Amino acid sequence: MPEKVTVSLIKADVGSIAGHSRPHPRMMEVASEMLGKAVRDGLLNDYYVTRCGDDMQLLMTHRKGENNREVHELAWNAFMAAANEAKKMHLYAAGQDLLSDAFSGNVRGQGPGAAEMEFEERPTEPMLVFMADKCGPSAYSLPISKIFMDPFTTTGLVIDPRAHLGYDIEIVDVVDHKKVLMSSPAELYDILALLGDTTRYAVKRVIHRSVGIAAVVSTEKLNILAGKYVGKDDPVMLVRCQSGLPAVGEVLQPFAFPQLVAGWMRGSHYGAWYPCAVDQSDPTYHDGPPRVCSLGIQITNGKIQGCEAPGSKPGDHKPIDYFAGREWDIVRNKAMEISIYMRGHGPFMPGIVSPEELEYTTRPDILKKLEPRMQPL
Ligand code: F6R
Ligand code: MG
Ligand code: MG
Repeated sequence: MPEKVTVSLIKADVGSIAGHSRPHPRMMEVASEMLGKAVRDGLLNDYYVTRCGDDMQLLMTHRKGENNREVHELAWNAFMAAANEAKKMHLYAAGQDLLSDAFSGNVRGQGPGAAEMEFEERPTEPMLVFMADKCGPSAYSLPISKIFMDPFTTTGLVIDPRAHLGYDIEIVDVVDHKKVLMSSPAELYDILALLGDTTRYAVKRVIHRSVGIAAVVSTEKLNILAGKYVGKDDPVMLVRCQSGLPAVGEVLQPFAFPQLVAGWMRGSHYGAWYPCAVDQSDPTYHDGPPRVCSLGIQITNGKIQGCEAPGSKPGDHKPIDYFAGREWDIVRNKAMEISIYMRGHGPFMPGIVSPEELEYTTRPDILKKLEPRMQPL
Protein backbone atom coordinates (compact mmCIF):
# COMPACT_ATOMS: atom_id res chain seq x y z
CA MET A 1 0.00 0.00 0.00
CA PRO A 2 1.44 3.41 -0.95
CA GLU A 3 1.97 5.80 1.95
CA LYS A 4 -0.88 8.27 2.39
CA VAL A 5 -0.36 12.01 2.20
CA THR A 6 -2.12 14.58 4.36
CA VAL A 7 -2.82 18.09 3.12
CA SER A 8 -3.48 20.52 5.98
CA LEU A 9 -4.60 24.08 5.37
CA ILE A 10 -4.69 25.96 8.68
CA LYS A 11 -5.55 29.65 8.78
CA ALA A 12 -5.90 32.48 11.24
CA ASP A 13 -6.17 36.24 11.35
CA VAL A 14 -3.43 37.36 13.71
CA GLY A 15 -3.16 41.02 12.81
CA SER A 16 -3.12 43.36 9.86
CA ILE A 17 -2.40 46.83 8.58
CA ALA A 18 -4.80 49.78 8.63
CA GLY A 19 -7.80 47.81 9.85
CA HIS A 20 -8.66 44.24 8.79
CA SER A 21 -6.77 44.26 5.49
CA ARG A 22 -3.65 42.08 5.07
CA PRO A 23 -0.87 40.65 7.22
CA HIS A 24 2.52 42.38 7.11
CA PRO A 25 5.12 40.51 4.97
CA ARG A 26 7.28 40.07 8.09
CA MET A 27 4.46 38.04 9.67
CA MET A 28 4.41 35.74 6.64
CA GLU A 29 8.19 35.51 6.73
CA VAL A 30 8.41 34.31 10.37
CA ALA A 31 5.72 31.70 9.70
CA SER A 32 7.61 30.54 6.56
CA GLU A 33 10.85 30.26 8.53
CA MET A 34 9.17 27.99 11.09
CA LEU A 35 7.52 25.80 8.47
CA GLY A 36 10.82 25.60 6.57
CA LYS A 37 12.52 24.32 9.70
CA ALA A 38 9.74 21.74 10.12
CA VAL A 39 10.56 20.43 6.61
CA ARG A 40 14.25 20.18 7.53
CA ASP A 41 13.29 18.40 10.79
CA GLY A 42 11.17 15.88 8.85
CA LEU A 43 7.76 16.83 10.28
CA LEU A 44 6.46 18.37 7.05
CA ASN A 45 7.06 17.32 3.46
CA ASP A 46 6.35 20.76 2.05
CA TYR A 47 4.49 24.02 2.71
CA TYR A 48 3.27 27.27 1.20
CA VAL A 49 2.44 30.39 3.19
CA THR A 50 -0.09 32.73 1.63
CA ARG A 51 -3.04 34.89 2.65
CA CYS A 52 -6.56 35.92 1.72
CA GLY A 53 -7.39 39.44 2.92
CA ASP A 54 -6.31 39.62 6.58
CA ASP A 55 -6.09 35.82 7.04
CA MET A 56 -2.73 34.05 7.03
CA GLN A 57 -2.88 30.65 5.36
CA LEU A 58 -0.49 27.78 6.10
CA LEU A 59 -0.74 25.09 3.45
CA MET A 60 1.24 22.02 4.53
CA THR A 61 1.77 18.46 3.31
CA HIS A 62 2.98 15.64 5.59
CA ARG A 63 2.53 11.95 6.43
CA LYS A 64 1.10 12.39 9.94
CA GLY A 65 -2.65 12.23 9.26
CA GLU A 66 -5.42 14.68 10.14
CA ASN A 67 -5.55 16.42 13.54
CA ASN A 68 -1.92 15.57 14.22
CA ARG A 69 -0.74 17.20 17.42
CA GLU A 70 2.74 18.12 16.15
CA VAL A 71 1.43 19.66 12.92
CA HIS A 72 -1.25 21.64 14.75
CA GLU A 73 1.26 22.80 17.34
CA LEU A 74 3.58 23.95 14.56
CA ALA A 75 0.74 25.96 12.99
CA TRP A 76 -0.19 27.41 16.38
CA ASN A 77 3.41 28.43 17.09
CA ALA A 78 3.76 29.95 13.61
CA PHE A 79 0.63 32.05 14.20
CA MET A 80 1.93 33.03 17.65
CA ALA A 81 5.25 34.14 16.15
CA ALA A 82 3.42 36.12 13.44
CA ALA A 83 1.16 37.69 16.08
CA ASN A 84 4.24 38.74 18.05
CA GLU A 85 5.63 40.46 14.96
CA ALA A 86 2.24 42.17 14.54
CA LYS A 87 2.31 43.26 18.18
CA LYS A 88 5.81 44.70 17.81
CA MET A 89 4.57 46.84 14.91
CA HIS A 90 1.36 47.73 16.82
CA LEU A 91 -0.64 46.33 13.93
CA TYR A 92 -4.38 46.09 14.17
CA ALA A 93 -6.09 43.14 15.91
CA ALA A 94 -2.74 41.45 16.60
CA GLY A 95 -3.35 37.89 17.81
CA GLN A 96 -7.13 38.22 17.15
CA ASP A 97 -7.86 34.56 16.33
CA LEU A 98 -5.61 33.00 18.99
CA LEU A 99 -8.21 32.53 21.68
CA SER A 100 -6.08 30.94 24.36
CA ASP A 101 -2.60 31.61 25.70
CA ALA A 102 -1.40 28.02 25.41
CA PHE A 103 -1.76 25.29 22.78
CA SER A 104 -3.99 22.44 23.94
CA GLY A 105 -3.38 19.64 21.42
CA ASN A 106 -5.36 20.80 18.37
CA VAL A 107 -6.00 24.21 16.80
CA ARG A 108 -9.71 23.39 16.43
CA GLY A 109 -11.68 25.19 19.11
CA GLN A 110 -8.75 27.55 19.77
CA GLY A 111 -9.52 30.09 17.05
CA PRO A 112 -7.76 29.07 13.81
CA GLY A 113 -9.69 27.22 11.08
CA ALA A 114 -8.49 23.96 9.52
CA ALA A 115 -9.31 21.95 6.40
CA GLU A 116 -7.37 18.70 6.27
CA MET A 117 -7.57 15.60 4.12
CA GLU A 118 -5.58 12.37 4.10
CA PHE A 119 -5.59 10.24 0.96
CA GLU A 120 -3.63 7.89 -1.20
CA GLU A 121 -2.07 10.01 -3.92
CA ARG A 122 -3.32 9.17 -7.41
CA PRO A 123 -0.76 9.00 -10.25
CA THR A 124 -1.56 12.68 -10.78
CA GLU A 125 -3.33 14.70 -8.10
CA PRO A 126 -4.70 18.14 -9.09
CA MET A 127 -6.09 20.18 -6.20
CA LEU A 128 -7.84 23.51 -5.78
CA VAL A 129 -7.30 25.48 -2.58
CA PHE A 130 -10.07 27.97 -1.77
CA MET A 131 -9.59 30.74 0.79
CA ALA A 132 -12.32 33.21 1.74
CA ASP A 133 -12.35 36.39 3.78
CA LYS A 134 -15.22 38.18 5.57
CA CYS A 135 -17.74 35.33 5.46
CA GLY A 136 -18.73 32.08 7.17
CA PRO A 137 -18.27 28.40 6.22
CA SER A 138 -21.77 27.99 4.78
CA ALA A 139 -20.70 30.31 1.95
CA TYR A 140 -19.28 27.17 0.32
CA SER A 141 -22.59 25.25 0.55
CA LEU A 142 -24.05 26.67 -2.66
CA PRO A 143 -20.95 26.09 -4.82
CA ILE A 144 -20.47 22.61 -3.29
CA SER A 145 -24.11 21.75 -4.09
CA LYS A 146 -23.55 22.81 -7.68
CA ILE A 147 -20.14 21.16 -8.06
CA PHE A 148 -21.01 17.76 -6.59
CA MET A 149 -24.79 17.52 -6.93
CA ASP A 150 -25.90 19.58 -9.94
CA PRO A 151 -25.54 17.91 -13.35
CA PHE A 152 -26.22 21.27 -15.01
CA THR A 153 -22.92 22.46 -13.51
CA THR A 154 -20.91 19.24 -13.54
CA THR A 155 -21.75 17.48 -16.77
CA GLY A 156 -19.35 14.77 -15.59
CA LEU A 157 -22.04 13.57 -13.14
CA VAL A 158 -24.05 12.51 -16.17
CA ILE A 159 -21.48 11.51 -18.78
CA ASP A 160 -18.44 10.25 -16.82
CA PRO A 161 -19.12 6.69 -15.53
CA ARG A 162 -16.69 7.30 -12.62
CA ALA A 163 -18.56 10.45 -11.51
CA HIS A 164 -21.96 8.82 -11.96
CA LEU A 165 -21.62 6.94 -8.64
CA GLY A 166 -22.47 10.05 -6.61
CA TYR A 167 -21.18 11.42 -3.33
CA ASP A 168 -21.64 11.21 0.42
CA ILE A 169 -21.96 14.63 1.97
CA GLU A 170 -21.09 15.25 5.63
CA ILE A 171 -23.16 18.15 6.93
CA VAL A 172 -22.49 19.88 10.24
CA ASP A 173 -24.86 21.84 12.41
CA VAL A 174 -22.42 24.54 13.51
CA VAL A 175 -24.73 25.76 16.27
CA ASP A 176 -25.47 22.45 18.05
CA HIS A 177 -22.12 20.85 17.06
CA LYS A 178 -23.71 17.77 15.40
CA LYS A 179 -23.00 16.11 12.06
CA VAL A 180 -24.81 13.80 9.64
CA LEU A 181 -23.65 11.86 6.56
CA MET A 182 -26.11 12.05 3.66
CA SER A 183 -26.13 10.49 0.25
CA SER A 184 -26.36 12.33 -3.09
CA PRO A 185 -28.28 12.08 -5.38
CA ALA A 186 -30.61 9.77 -3.34
CA GLU A 187 -31.19 12.36 -0.59
CA LEU A 188 -30.61 15.47 -2.70
CA TYR A 189 -33.76 17.33 -1.67
CA ASP A 190 -33.21 16.55 2.03
CA ILE A 191 -29.59 17.72 1.76
CA LEU A 192 -30.67 21.02 0.18
CA ALA A 193 -33.41 21.46 2.80
CA LEU A 194 -30.64 21.60 5.42
CA LEU A 195 -27.97 23.47 3.47
CA GLY A 196 -30.42 26.22 2.46
CA ASP A 197 -30.28 27.39 6.09
CA THR A 198 -26.89 29.07 5.89
CA THR A 199 -27.13 30.32 9.48
CA ARG A 200 -26.76 26.80 10.84
CA TYR A 201 -25.64 24.14 8.38
CA ALA A 202 -22.44 23.81 6.39
CA VAL A 203 -20.73 21.05 4.41
CA LYS A 204 -17.69 19.60 6.17
CA ARG A 205 -16.70 16.82 3.76
CA VAL A 206 -17.60 15.43 0.36
CA ILE A 207 -16.67 11.81 -0.26
CA HIS A 208 -16.64 10.10 -3.64
CA ARG A 209 -17.84 6.49 -3.50
CA SER A 210 -14.71 5.02 -5.06
CA VAL A 211 -12.01 7.76 -5.03
CA GLY A 212 -12.66 8.70 -1.37
CA ILE A 213 -12.32 12.20 0.06
CA ALA A 214 -13.09 14.85 -2.56
CA ALA A 215 -13.52 18.08 -0.59
CA VAL A 216 -13.17 19.39 2.94
CA VAL A 217 -14.14 22.76 4.46
CA SER A 218 -13.05 24.46 7.69
CA THR A 219 -16.25 24.78 9.71
CA GLU A 220 -15.04 26.16 13.03
CA LYS A 221 -17.50 28.88 13.99
CA LEU A 222 -15.27 31.44 15.65
CA ASN A 223 -17.92 33.76 17.01
CA ILE A 224 -19.76 30.93 18.76
CA LEU A 225 -16.55 29.33 20.02
CA ALA A 226 -15.46 32.49 21.72
CA GLY A 227 -18.92 33.29 23.02
CA LYS A 228 -18.47 36.79 21.68
CA TYR A 229 -17.44 38.48 18.45
CA VAL A 230 -13.80 37.91 17.63
CA GLY A 231 -13.85 37.85 13.82
CA LYS A 232 -15.50 35.95 11.00
CA ASP A 233 -14.62 32.33 10.25
CA ASP A 234 -13.24 33.24 6.84
CA PRO A 235 -13.31 29.57 5.80
CA VAL A 236 -11.02 27.54 3.57
CA MET A 237 -11.75 24.54 1.37
CA LEU A 238 -9.60 21.88 -0.34
CA VAL A 239 -10.97 20.13 -3.45
CA ARG A 240 -9.39 17.20 -5.29
CA CYS A 241 -10.16 17.39 -9.00
CA GLN A 242 -10.26 15.45 -12.29
CA SER A 243 -10.22 11.77 -13.31
CA GLY A 244 -13.70 10.95 -12.04
CA LEU A 245 -13.90 13.90 -9.64
CA PRO A 246 -15.25 17.20 -10.96
CA ALA A 247 -12.88 18.86 -13.44
CA VAL A 248 -11.13 22.06 -12.34
CA GLY A 249 -13.45 24.03 -14.62
CA GLU A 250 -16.54 22.40 -13.11
CA VAL A 251 -15.28 23.26 -9.60
CA LEU A 252 -14.65 26.91 -10.52
CA GLN A 253 -17.79 27.51 -12.53
CA PRO A 254 -20.26 28.10 -9.62
CA PHE A 255 -18.10 31.01 -8.44
CA ALA A 256 -19.22 32.89 -11.55
CA PHE A 257 -22.47 33.48 -9.63
CA PRO A 258 -21.73 36.20 -7.06
CA GLN A 259 -24.02 34.78 -4.38
CA LEU A 260 -24.94 36.83 -1.33
CA VAL A 261 -23.01 35.65 1.73
CA ALA A 262 -23.20 36.76 5.35
CA GLY A 263 -20.17 38.53 6.79
CA TRP A 264 -18.54 41.60 5.28
CA MET A 265 -18.45 44.74 7.43
CA ARG A 266 -18.55 43.85 11.14
CA GLY A 267 -19.49 40.30 10.14
CA SER A 268 -23.04 41.61 9.98
CA HIS A 269 -23.94 42.36 6.36
CA TYR A 270 -24.88 40.47 3.22
CA GLY A 271 -22.50 41.12 0.35
CA ALA A 272 -21.84 39.50 -3.03
CA TRP A 273 -18.96 37.00 -2.96
CA TYR A 274 -16.12 38.53 -4.98
CA PRO A 275 -13.69 36.10 -6.67
CA CYS A 276 -10.20 37.60 -6.90
CA ALA A 277 -6.46 37.00 -7.04
CA VAL A 278 -4.55 36.73 -3.76
CA ASP A 279 -2.85 40.06 -4.51
CA GLN A 280 -6.26 41.65 -5.00
CA SER A 281 -7.77 40.30 -1.79
CA ASP A 282 -7.48 43.45 0.35
CA PRO A 283 -10.99 44.43 1.49
CA THR A 284 -11.14 47.81 -0.22
CA TYR A 285 -14.88 48.56 -0.23
CA HIS A 286 -16.73 48.80 3.10
CA ASP A 287 -14.35 46.21 4.59
CA GLY A 288 -15.10 43.91 1.69
CA PRO A 289 -16.96 42.80 -0.22
CA PRO A 290 -16.56 39.21 1.02
CA ARG A 291 -13.79 37.61 -1.08
CA VAL A 292 -12.77 34.21 -2.34
CA CYS A 293 -9.44 33.16 -3.85
CA SER A 294 -8.63 29.89 -5.59
CA LEU A 295 -5.15 28.43 -6.01
CA GLY A 296 -4.39 25.45 -8.25
CA ILE A 297 -1.62 23.00 -7.30
CA GLN A 298 -0.56 19.40 -7.86
CA ILE A 299 0.27 17.09 -4.95
CA THR A 300 3.37 15.25 -6.21
CA ASN A 301 5.04 12.54 -4.10
CA GLY A 302 3.60 14.17 -0.99
CA LYS A 303 4.85 17.64 -1.98
CA ILE A 304 3.31 20.74 -3.51
CA GLN A 305 3.90 21.40 -7.22
CA GLY A 306 2.89 24.69 -8.82
CA CYS A 307 4.50 26.53 -11.75
CA GLU A 308 7.90 26.59 -10.00
CA ALA A 309 10.63 24.34 -11.40
CA PRO A 310 10.46 20.78 -10.08
CA GLY A 311 12.90 20.34 -7.19
CA SER A 312 12.81 24.01 -6.14
CA LYS A 313 13.09 24.90 -2.43
CA PRO A 314 10.23 23.85 -0.11
CA GLY A 315 7.94 26.80 0.50
CA ASP A 316 8.85 28.43 -2.83
CA HIS A 317 5.72 27.78 -4.83
CA LYS A 318 3.87 29.43 -7.67
CA PRO A 319 0.33 28.06 -7.70
CA ILE A 320 -2.07 28.98 -10.47
CA ASP A 321 -4.08 31.92 -9.19
CA TYR A 322 -7.34 30.96 -10.88
CA PHE A 323 -9.38 34.09 -10.18
CA ALA A 324 -6.60 36.39 -11.43
CA GLY A 325 -7.86 35.96 -15.01
CA ARG A 326 -9.64 38.77 -16.87
CA GLU A 327 -12.53 36.33 -17.48
CA TRP A 328 -13.56 36.96 -13.86
CA ASP A 329 -13.81 40.77 -14.31
CA ILE A 330 -17.43 40.46 -15.38
CA VAL A 331 -18.22 38.54 -12.17
CA ARG A 332 -16.31 41.07 -10.07
CA ASN A 333 -18.20 43.96 -11.69
CA LYS A 334 -21.51 42.24 -11.06
CA ALA A 335 -20.49 41.47 -7.46
CA MET A 336 -19.65 45.14 -6.89
CA GLU A 337 -22.95 46.26 -8.37
CA ILE A 338 -24.83 43.88 -6.08
CA SER A 339 -22.77 44.84 -3.04
CA ILE A 340 -23.32 48.56 -3.65
CA TYR A 341 -27.04 47.87 -3.98
CA MET A 342 -27.08 45.83 -0.75
CA ARG A 343 -25.22 48.66 1.01
CA GLY A 344 -28.08 50.94 0.03
CA HIS A 345 -30.11 49.29 2.81
CA GLY A 346 -27.79 50.76 5.44
CA PRO A 347 -28.63 49.22 8.81
CA PHE A 348 -31.89 47.69 7.51
CA MET A 349 -32.47 44.00 6.73
CA PRO A 350 -31.76 42.33 4.33
CA GLY A 351 -28.69 44.59 4.01
CA ILE A 352 -27.76 43.41 7.48
CA VAL A 353 -28.07 39.84 8.78
CA SER A 354 -30.84 38.70 11.14
CA PRO A 355 -30.64 39.88 14.78
CA GLU A 356 -29.38 36.47 15.97
CA GLU A 357 -26.52 36.56 13.44
CA LEU A 358 -25.32 40.10 14.14
CA GLU A 359 -21.74 40.10 15.32
CA TYR A 360 -22.18 43.45 17.04
CA THR A 361 -25.41 44.59 18.70
CA THR A 362 -26.64 47.35 20.94
CA ARG A 363 -30.22 46.07 20.97
CA PRO A 364 -30.31 44.38 24.41
CA ASP A 365 -29.08 47.60 26.05
CA ILE A 366 -31.53 49.73 24.08
CA LEU A 367 -34.44 47.45 24.98
CA LYS A 368 -33.42 47.51 28.63
CA LYS A 369 -33.27 51.30 28.63
CA LEU A 370 -36.69 51.49 26.97
CA GLU A 371 -38.34 48.96 29.28
CA PRO A 372 -39.97 51.59 31.55
CA ARG A 373 -41.33 53.41 28.51
CA MET A 374 -42.73 50.35 26.74
CA GLN A 375 -46.56 50.42 26.66
CA PRO A 376 -48.99 47.63 25.78
CA LEU A 377 -50.50 48.17 22.34
C1 F6R B 1 -15.25 41.80 9.39
C2 F6R B 1 -14.14 42.62 9.86
C3 F6R B 1 -14.30 44.08 9.90
C4 F6R B 1 -14.49 44.60 11.33
C5 F6R B 1 -14.70 46.11 11.36
C6 F6R B 1 -14.78 46.66 12.77
O1 F6R B 1 -14.93 40.46 9.47
O2 F6R B 1 -13.10 42.12 10.24
O3 F6R B 1 -15.34 44.51 9.08
O4 F6R B 1 -15.59 43.94 11.93
O5 F6R B 1 -13.63 46.74 10.71
O6 F6R B 1 -13.66 46.25 13.45
P1 F6R B 1 -13.32 46.65 14.94
O7 F6R B 1 -14.45 46.21 15.82
O8 F6R B 1 -12.04 45.92 15.17
O9 F6R B 1 -13.15 48.16 14.94
MG1 MG C 1 -9.66 40.54 10.87
MG1 MG D 1 -10.42 37.73 7.72
